[in-house]
Amino acid sequence: MSLTTPMTRTLRPMTRTLLGMAVGLALSAGPLTVQAQSNEDVKMGFIVKKPEQAWFINEQEAATKLGEKKGFEVVRLSGEDGQEVLSAIDNLNSQGAQGFVICPPDVRLGPAIMNRAKQYGMKVVTVDDRFIGGDGEPMENVPHLGMSGYKIGEQVGNAIAEEMDNRGWDPDEVAALRITNYELPTAKERTDGATAALLESGFKKDNIFDAPQQNTDTSSAFSAASPVFSKRGDFEHWVIYALNEESVLGGVRASEQYGLDPEQVIGVGINGSGAAFAEFSRETPTGFHGTVAVSSTMHGRQSADNLYQWITEGEKPPANTETTGKLMTRDNWQDVREELGL
Ligand code: GLA
Repeated sequence: MSLTTPMTRTLRPMTRTLLGMAVGLALSAGPLTVQAQSNEDVKMGFIVKKPEQAWFINEQEAATKLGEKKGFEVVRLSGEDGQEVLSAIDNLNSQGAQGFVICPPDVRLGPAIMNRAKQYGMKVVTVDDRFIGGDGEPMENVPHLGMSGYKIGEQVGNAIAEEMDNRGWDPDEVAALRITNYELPTAKERTDGATAALLESGFKKDNIFDAPQQNTDTSSAFSAASPVFSKRGDFEHWVIYALNEESVLGGVRASEQYGLDPEQVIGVGINGSGAAFAEFSRETPTGFHGTVAVSSTMHGRQSADNLYQWITEGEKPPANTETTGKLMTRDNWQDVREELGL
C-alpha cells in the first residue's frame, strides 16, 4: 500500500494531461471524423438528485443492467445540490466517461451543468426533470425523457374522483390537500392536471388548500401538510395529491398525526416505486389509496440507451420523450408492477 500510493499520486497529473489532450482532440474533430467508440470504452455517469429514493435507485439499476448486457459501464452518482453535481462531473471526467444521464437537483442549474460538460466534451441527456435555460424555457438542445406530467396528473384526479364516488362522499364537503412544488415544471404540470380533472368531476375550487413543499420528498411534504390540517379542522374528508407518492405519503402521515382515520383520506401519488409497494404491503390499508405507476425501469434503461447510441453511433436522441402511467392500488399493485417490469 505504502509503495503504490505515491506512484498513483505521481501518475495522476500525467493521466490528466493525456485526458485533456484526448478531450482537445475530440473537440477539434469535425463531424465527419467522429469515431465510433468500441463498446469496452464506453463509460457513462448516471447522476440523480435523490439517491435514497426507490424511484432513482431503480433507474440507476436498470441503466447498470443494460450496460452489463451491451458492454458499457455505468457510474452511479449522487447530485443533491449544484456543488455535488459539478464534482460528480469532474469525477466522471477523471474516470474517462464520455457523458452522463442526469436528474438535476434544481432544473435551473442546466446552463452551469452544460458548461462544465462542454469543457470535458461530454454528452448529456436529462431524465425526469428537464433543464431550464436562462430564458426560463426548457433547454431544447439537451435530449430529455420524462413523464407526460399533465396527463398523469389527470389520471390522479380521476382516480381520486372515482374513489370519492365509491365511498359516497358529497363533493361539497371534501377538502383537498394539494402539495405543490412550483419551482419544478413537471411537478406543476402534474398537480395542475390533477386539479383540472378534480374540478371537472365537480370538486369545489374553494376547498382546495395548498401546501407548498421545499423539496420533492416525504419529510418536506409532511412539514408543508401539517399546518393545513390544523387550520382546516372543519373538514372530515380529505383527498391528497402531489408530484409523487413520496410527497403524498408525507401528507398521509401528517393526516394520521392530526388524527384522521384511513377511511377519511384518499391519497393518490405518482411513481409506482418501492415507497408505494411498502405502503400496499402493510397489513391494514392507510389513507394512501393508490399511485399512478410509471416504469422507472424503462426511464433508466431508455435514457442510458439513448446516451449510449449517441456516444457510439453519433445519433442524437429525440429532444423530448414523454412516458405514460397506469393506476396502481392495493388490489392490483403486484400485477401492474410485473407489467411495468418494476
Ligand atoms: C421527479 C420526482 C420523482 C419522480 C420523477 C419521475 O423527479 O421528484 O419522484 O416522480 O420526477 O419523472
